Amino acid sequence: MKKVTKQVMAFTVIFGAAMLISCGGGDKAPAEETAATPTETTVEAAPAKDGAQFFQTSGCVACHQMDAKTVGPAIKEIAKAYADEAALTSFLKGESKAIVDPAQEAVMDPQVEITKKMSAEDLQVIVSYIMSNK
Ligand code: HEC
Repeated sequence: MKKVTKQVMAFTVIFGAAMLISCGGGDKAPAEETAATPTETTVEAAPAKDGAQFFQTSGCVACHQMDAKTVGPAIKEIAKAYADEAALTSFLKGESKAIVDPAQEAVMDPQVEITKKMSAEDLQVIVSYIMSNK
């Protein structure tokens, strides 16, 4: 009987310690939540991605400048060549062929592999950005 009591006490001590630890964690949780909330709010409240910036962070500027042909055609040249956003979206989804500089299509092909995997929202940001420079 005495032995059992000891075991129960030992259990109680361990359990108590575990509770203390988990309570410590529990105290932290709301703090983390509070910290996370403004971030989430910022993401939700943020306007649609900035087109120029997204075009840059997606690596497109490495080959596409606004006015001048570099490795790829100028953004303005692409915008002029495409009748509407739907047609440009179709190219970037890999659903239609190049119309601006078909001879160089092989250089752009790996990029289309990237753009066709983008979310519809992200692709729309790029398409709107290009077409806004007609
Ligand atoms: C390694 C250089 C390179 C990068 C990086 C690049 N492009 Fe291109 N791009 C080209 C070349 C070269 C062409 C010309 C061939 C062609 O017209 O498909 C081109 C053509 C295009 C065209 C015109 C397609 C047509 O109808 O002829 C669009 C639109 C385009 N790129 C969008 C993008 C976007 C959006 C990105 C970023 C995700 C990007 N490019 C990144 C090289 C590049």
